[in-house]
Amino acid sequence: MPDLVIHSVRDARELNEAHDLMAKVHTKDYFNGMRLMEQVWRVYPSFRPEDTRVARLKGEIVGALRVTTDTIRLGEARLRMGGFGWVATSGRHRNLGVARALMSDTLEHMRARKLHVSMLFGIPNFYHRFGFSTTLANYRTTLNVADFPKPKTSGFKLRPVKPGDIRAMQRMHEQGDGQTACSIIRCGGHFQYRWGEWTSAQTVMTPDGKVLGYFLPRTGGERLEIDEVGVLNRRVCGTLLDAILAYARDNFLREIEVHAPPHDPFIEYLLQFKSKHAMELTYGEGGMMAVLHLGETLDSMAPEWEYQLAQSALREQHTETTLVIDRVPYRLLAHHGSISVVQQPGKNKLSLTMEEFMHLLTGYRHIEEVLAVRHRILSQESRDLLAVLFAKRTPYVWTMDRF
Ligand SMILES: CC(C)(COP(=O)(O)OP(=O)(O)OC[C@H]1O[C@@H](n2cnc3c(N)ncnc32)[C@H](O)[C@@H]1OP(=O)(O)O)[C@@H](O)C(=O)NCCC(=O)NCCS
Repeated sequence: MPDLVIHSVRDARELNEAHDLMAKVHTKDYFNGMRLMEQVWRVYPSFRPEDTRVARLKGEIVGALRVTTDTIRLGEARLRMGGFGWVATSGRHRNLGVARALMSDTLEHMRARKLHVSMLFGIPNFYHRFGFSTTLANYRTTLNVADFPKPKTSGFKLRPVKPGDIRAMQRMHEQGDGQTACSIIRCGGHFQYRWGEWTSAQTVMTPDGKVLGYFLPRTGGERLEIDEVGVLNRRVCGTLLDAILAYARDNFLREIEVHAPPHDPFIEYLLQFKSKHAMELTYGEGGMMAVLHLGETLDSMAPEWEYQLAQSALREQHTETTLVIDRVPYRLLAHHGSISVVQQPGKNKLSLTMEEFMHLLTGYRHIEEVLAVRHRILSQESRDLLAVLFAKRTPYVWTMDRF
């Protein structure tokens, strides 16, 4: 479409026009959509008006989206992430290439800002054309209240969370989240901007008022769905379970579903009880990621890769492997515990598609499984190096961090 112009919003009027379109397209209740835009997303910690981008055709805004920027954790590495949200084309202008132009232009914009990776939670069969691959699964642990004895309610107190709990919740979340790959690193502002949703969270305390943990029940519904749990330490998981069971009983809910990754301390605690643990992959939709800047992403992995190397038998070795990603070679050299990445041909080549690389980088897939498909003849040393660099992980983004 030659007349289509893509740009960032330039003033309050344009921002309002974009909000109007996104609210109409994305929410059944327009006024609630506008409230979300104006009151929730406007106070998002890294909010900038210009991160709302629009497609304009003959003066009219026909497409819009929101970019969020956050830092994600991959072990010891930190990557700058640009998120896509609220991607919308007006009903009258669909299938004309508006979203394509808006997405492509915004991806370039993100690259110019030196963001390493992009992330989104998307509709089926749409975002793969922009280089996004599924990397983020959902996890559910289900308990039947009847399988547990009635808890002693004298061992804890429950009260709704207060803004004064944010620091404690942030600390508990951070402490339990070190193993989660690709998780968004939260500051207090991440709790504040969605405080309206956090107010249903419950603080679990000792009878004398010491905070032990929290859980975030989703309001409504037939079962008690919990979008997040946090504990002070592993020893208080039993008290958190008692508090959740009591809360379910008080609300006449017979089933409890906890949305948290398998390595979360509370989920690990639940393994000793009758429970169902499910992993759900919505391949080609849902949580997807794309690399924006390959060289810089590889460079940014050094802290994690050196940490992994230090724990391995390769820590004193000199060894190398060359990843050929979408035909571009990157030579990864491990030398006495330090890692260097250079964009040049080298030994022990492994060709990968960008999707395979994304899967390995995030730990979504197992390196042995990718190597088996590739039928590569690699030296044992380079296989060992690849196994160190691409450890299996659990990439996950908490419900409250999704955009
Ligand atoms: C999804 C949406 C943004 C697409 O916008 P659009 O401007 O019509 O898309 P385009 O014309 O640029 O289409 C680009 C490509 O996607 C395909 N496509 C369009 N809508 C699609 C959809 N809903 N699902 C899957 N593919 C779609 C087109 O066929 C085209 O394919 P091609 O690469 O083979 O040419 C628009 O339908 C919309 O606003 N939907 C409602 C809101 C929504 O679901 N947003 C996404 C939230 S994650």
